[in-house]
Amino acid sequence: MVQPGQVRPVGFAATERTDAWWVAPLVQGLGLATLICYANWAAYQGRDYLVGNYLSPLYSPLLDIEGLPFSPAFLILLPPVLFRATCYYYRKAYYRSFFFDPPACAVSELGGKKGYRGETAFPFVLQNLHRYLFYATLLYLPFLWLDAFHATNFDGKFGIGVGTLVILANSIALTLYSFSCHSARHLVGGSLDCFSCTAANRTRHAAWKRASFLNERHMLFAWTSFLTVCGADLYVRLVARGAITDLRLL
Ligand code: FES
Repeated sequence: MVQPGQVRPVGFAATERTDAWWVAPLVQGLGLATLICYANWAAYQGRDYLVGNYLSPLYSPLLDIEGLPFSPAFLILLPPVLFRATCYYYRKAYYRSFFFDPPACAVSELGGKKGYRGETAFPFVLQNLHRYLFYATLLYLPFLWLDAFHATNFDGKFGIGVGTLVILANSIALTLYSFSCHSARHLVGGSLDCFSCTAANRTRHAAWKRASFLNERHMLFAWTSFLTVCGADLYVRLVARGAITDLRLL
């Protein structure tokens, strides 16, 4: 709080906050950079993504296109990557951590407001495609659950290995991430003037409350699912390369 006679701080990162406001943007920036680097590296490899009944989620659904001059992951991942890049939570995270725009609440941004157009001008206006990318990525969920199902099939017999659990955890995390999306909440309960007027609206209200429960935890699911995607890929990759042996639990 500026006292009478004191000069209000100005310039980049100027603030009257006295807490360690920089910790959250720093930690989330480092975390995001690490996961993005890993996912790009893994997508670029184009090998070691399938071993036995385990398929890396970065390569799901499995594409077998002969003569493709680049890793199939670049085709497979385009909608999910754009979905994540336009996610409301991730926008907040990378606007703060990478663009310092602003670095935190009540902290001065980099550059100032001159010519600021927010998300109304190119390229940031494209963030509004998020709801359509939500529909596109919903199509991936059945394939991810199919992968979890295949991960229980050991030469025609039901079984469970550590890899099964890793792949299953990823399918659950990505499902929760998708259904906790703001667009999912709008889809089930948006564009209604009255929740209680008709039986159909009351049903949608009940669904909207469940979607809101998930939506309140969207940041948790955003991080968990990014970690499980990279973790599942790493696990499959290590097993495929013979660096570790998959442990059969059942
Ligand atoms: Fe994050 Fe839609 S708001 S995925």
